[in-house]
Amino acid sequence: MRSAHRRPGVTEVQRLIMEGGRRLHGQVRISGSKNAVLPILAATLLTDEECVIRNVPRLRDVAVMTSILRRLGAEVHAEAEEGEQVLRVCARRLRTHEVPETLVRRMRSSIFLMGPLLGREGRVRLSYPGGCAIGPRPINLHLKALSDLGAVIEERNGYLEARAPVLAGATVHLDQSSVGATENAMMAAVLARGMTAIYNAAREPEIADLQGFLNAMGARVSGAGTDVIRVEGVGRLRGADYRVIPDRIEAGTYLVAAAITGGHLVLLDAEPSHLESPIAKLREAGAVVTARGREIHVQGPDRPRAVDIKTVPYPGFPTDLQSPFMALLSLAEGTSIITESIFENRFKVAGELRRMGAQIAIDGRVAVIRGVHRLSGAVVEAMDDLRGGAALVLAGLAAEGRTVVEGVRHIERGYQDLDRKLLEVGARIRRTLNGAVLTRRTAILPAPPPPIGS
Ligand code: EPU
Repeated sequence: MRSAHRRPGVTEVQRLIMEGGRRLHGQVRISGSKNAVLPILAATLLTDEECVIRNVPRLRDVAVMTSILRRLGAEVHAEAEEGEQVLRVCARRLRTHEVPETLVRRMRSSIFLMGPLLGREGRVRLSYPGGCAIGPRPINLHLKALSDLGAVIEERNGYLEARAPVLAGATVHLDQSSVGATENAMMAAVLARGMTAIYNAAREPEIADLQGFLNAMGARVSGAGTDVIRVEGVGRLRGADYRVIPDRIEAGTYLVAAAITGGHLVLLDAEPSHLESPIAKLREAGAVVTARGREIHVQGPDRPRAVDIKTVPYPGFPTDLQSPFMALLSLAEGTSIITESIFENRFKVAGELRRMGAQIAIDGRVAVIRGVHRLSGAVVEAMDDLRGGAALVLAGLAAEGRTVVEGVRHIERGYQDLDRKLLEVGARIRRTLNGAVLTRRTAILPAPPPPIGS
């Protein structure tokens, strides 16, 4: 049976149920960036003073990260200020340098706790992060960068054990541009002795945000946004009060929501300069997109035109918007080709889109999408890839009839209040938990972090 009760012990069955075919209209407030806040939260371990992090999205991944911080000994308090989540983190004393398997399994990106724990404690023990639905996701670049800075790393019984009584500034060459490895190297280097230069660094906006936070703590980091990042090590870091950038992938997903429904949305609190490549593709597909300060206005076309897309590191087209665009192009006039050059297995959603009537052929890293006139509602499953899950919701908004998306917990990893935000702009959508409707028009309160080890 295709249903969400597939993990033993998990009885919650959450579904998103949509009646498609409504043009969306209205305003959507964009939340803080998941991929910026996760390394920033990890970086709070670098000081024994309190850090205040603002504009923190209420997401499952953030809850897992706060569980990890608490487990390590940090105090974490969540507050709501003007509807926005603020986290106060104070890692005065750390209790342990070990991140247990249960938590690493729930968030693969916990690998970037290695850099800050090495910087602060000189040692770290972390369960070996496995692969996930979007590919094997190796960690060789992380380990090489940390070794270059003086860490001695061993793998024992499924755990990575790293020691570095003293980290020393070094030249780090990344063979491939990696967001996480760049962040890990930056966080290890800020307290290292001397100068570090990271070559072929990733240039994503989340890297610049991490640089901003580290510098607010008293670090000396420069070059983020270019492919060479320089770090001058300092003796200690202090607490900081910092606001996280808007989530460009969430924003891009709502741009597609307008485009796929032929609707008109205004995104508030967005950062248009982080979205140039997807906006260019949306215009090519026939949408009218204009930016004014922190607002993005998008008017969807009656029917999108086919476009070709290749995912590449920033500032190119982001892999995280590949699946949402696949949903859009399923309805386009003409044939589109998507080439996925970052994560090899990121076409899994194509099978579910086909169940809704999409015509998509996959050959390795290339997807050929022959646009159809209509998609039809179906029961589909968001598998272990939140962007694929978001693509199914987008398809459901445009499809004829009822779409039921199962596996909602994967989508909750990366989209705050997705159902509520869509409901407010006219979508017919509801989220159910074991059959009970959860969707409300008002914002939900911050969810308490899940219990450790659950
Ligand atoms: N890679 C290696 N070795 C490594 C690290 C990466 O070969 O040690 C390869 C990867 O397999 C991939 C490429 O390098 O082919 C780029 O991966 P990167 O390290 O940049 O990805 P990441 O840091 O693991 C972050 C985001 C992803 C996003 C990618 C690419 C976070 C927490 N995650 O992952 O976000 O897709 O960058 O932009 O920042 C998502 O939000 O849905 C998501 C998966």
